[in-house]
Amino acid sequence: MISPCGFPSLSYTMTPNQPPVLQRPPAEVLYGEELARLRAADRLPRPPGWQLSMPAVRRFILGEGEAAAKIVCAPGLIERALVTLASNRALLLVGEPGTAKSLLSELLAAAISGCSTLTIQGSAATTEDQIKYGWNYALLLNEGPSPQALVPSPLYRAMQAGQLVRFEEITRCPPEVQDGLLSILSERLLMVPELSGEGGTLFAAPGFNLIATANTRDRGVNEMSAALKRRFSFETLFPIRDYEQEFELVRAEVGRLLARDQVPVLPPDEVLEVLVTVFRELRDGVGRDGAAGERLSTVVSTAEAVSVAYSVALRGYYLRGDGGEPGDIVEALAGAAAKDNAEDGKKLRRYMEHRAGKRQGAHWQAFYAARHRLPE
Ligand SMILES: Nc1ncnc2c1ncn2[C@@H]1O[C@H](COP(=O)(O)OP(=O)(O)O)[C@@H](O)[C@H]1O
Ligand SMILES: [Mg+2]
Repeated sequence: MISPCGFPSLSYTMTPNQPPVLQRPPAEVLYGEELARLRAADRLPRPPGWQLSMPAVRRFILGEGEAAAKIVCAPGLIERALVTLASNRALLLVGEPGTAKSLLSELLAAAISGCSTLTIQGSAATTEDQIKYGWNYALLLNEGPSPQALVPSPLYRAMQAGQLVRFEEITRCPPEVQDGLLSILSERLLMVPELSGEGGTLFAAPGFNLIATANTRDRGVNEMSAALKRRFSFETLFPIRDYEQEFELVRAEVGRLLARDQVPVLPPDEVLEVLVTVFRELRDGVGRDGAAGERLSTVVSTAEAVSVAYSVALRGYYLRGDGGEPGDIVEALAGAAAKDNAEDGKKLRRYMEHRAGKRQGAHWQAFYAARHRLPE
């Protein structure tokens, strides 16, 4: 069976106790069975071109009953995003790095269109060809411009098939390239001036829309023209506010990554407690006890907490055969949190000395005792 975006989806279905076929399966493959179940049970009206009704998509993303939430955020945000995607506006997800903008856009595309891989990655080098269409030059030289010689972009294919297209980090593209989207988003058509007649205009099929993401830390969203901004509804994602929710998310995510690698250990809860607390305190500059501290200038997001927890477990398992210990966090922390910023490195060292050392509990003491493992 070939899924709408060309994935032979059944052969990639994740089977327990079987090595995964892909390093990182897209959401429609990873959650293929859950999506199929939701589709089969869904009797509610669906917007044109959608594979699921809005309540079913909301349930897929926010969980319900047994099913855990895939995104921690206010339900209102997901509902507004769904209404936007069914309307004639595109959706722009903004926020700091690591606030699950990309993940949310992937889940929305997988649930609504059954395909999350029609994606354009924005960068300073993105060209209009990559957004709209290019040409197969051999064919172009031989036969001149023809539909066969046209190489469609992900956006072109999404318009044709009535699916969602994702545009990652849109504000990294030069504004004049971004503005190539203006007429597509307002007229819902794409002109191909090289092709005359019927082939010269592509009308978007029902179900087509665009989800863009933009980081507030990179070059800002102010790089977007006012005209283009008007075609988007903005939604801002924030770091997870609640400690328990962040802890649960990190534990669940790291469990999923380790299960995928068939690593039969999990980091102990005390290790995760140290890790999540340290990340939150360095992010907010405020301790769990309310005491003021220093904030790192680099982003220490939940996404990074997950990846540090994952390294801690891999280190524990492959080097010693356990699930990781508090000292392993120190090793991973410098590379993940302070990166190449010397000032943040110093803040991290001060945090270890002054705050971690004062905490009660063997796990905090073990973390403190490993402070010499911070690279100079
Ligand atoms: N609110 C959240 N809900 C779910 N996962 C989150 C959340 N915040 C961060 N994450 C974690 O961050 C990872 C994804 O971050 P990503 O989507 O790449 O962020 P962004 O695109 O905003 O930089 C997720 O896989 C998840 O582990
Ligand atoms: Mg992203």
